[in-house]
Amino acid sequence: MFTLRIIILIVPLKYDLCYCECARAEYKIDKQCCPMFLCAAYDTSTTCVPCPQLTFIDEPNGLVECFPCTVCDADRGLRLSEVCTRSSDTVCGPLERFYCIEKQKGSCTLAVQHSECNPGQYIKQAGTGSTDTVCADCTADTYSNGSFSSCLPHTKCEAMGLAETNLGTHSSDSECGNPPTAVAIIASSVIVTLILITVVSVLIFKHIRKKKLSKSSGNSKGKNKVYHRKKYTRQLFSLYT
Ligand SMILES: *[C@@H]1O[C@H](CO)[C@@H](O)[C@H](O)[C@H]1NC(C)=O
Repeated sequence: MFTLRIIILIVPLKYDLCYCECARAEYKIDKQCCPMFLCAAYDTSTTCVPCPQLTFIDEPNGLVECFPCTVCDADRGLRLSEVCTRSSDTVCGPLERFYCIEKQKGSCTLAVQHSECNPGQYIKQAGTGSTDTVCADCTADTYSNGSFSSCLPHTKCEAMGLAETNLGTHSSDSECGNPPTAVAIIASSVIVTLILITVVSVLIFKHIRKKKLSKSSGNSKGKNKVYHRKKYTRQLFSLYT
């Protein structure tokens, strides 16, 4: 009973062997050639069983169990690149915008995110799956916010007939605004004139008052003179405070 079952199992395997393009000591499975070292050591192939789902064996061995397929861990910056077969482990690659910093047998085992360029720098070389971003500083009259692939020249406000309201830096463009209009110029000169007139009239008024006071103190005589002078000083003082 037992032997019968084994024979049934072997027949399709042998059938496969006849049609494969693999070497003599190999067998074809999942479009790949697998070595038959273990199998060849025995008269019958009963000990050779394809690895179960999510396990693999990628080299000649004497193991009675297959290895579990690697799972690409997003926490290590990894994503699936090639699925696991019975004869090859999963191949992991870096996530989008990550690059690989640790590799094992052609599969990435740890990846980190690409660096970002600072404002004032441009992306000289974009990061790849295996290299980080390369940044470079802006020079002269150019700017970049850190995400440009080259520094852009500052906007020339004067060439557009505008006034420069904010000077450009290496991280920001210059800002242009409308030059002062005729109306604004007239309005501001009117205001300045009004202020000047007010100041001048106040001064004149004070001067007249001062003259009046000194006249009245000059006419007084004797004891009163002292009193008036005191009063005048007090008034003069209050004028300036
Ligand atoms: C830089 O400017 C571009 C286009 O103006 C914008 O899409 C991007 O979000 C900016 N990047 C940063 C880091 O500010």
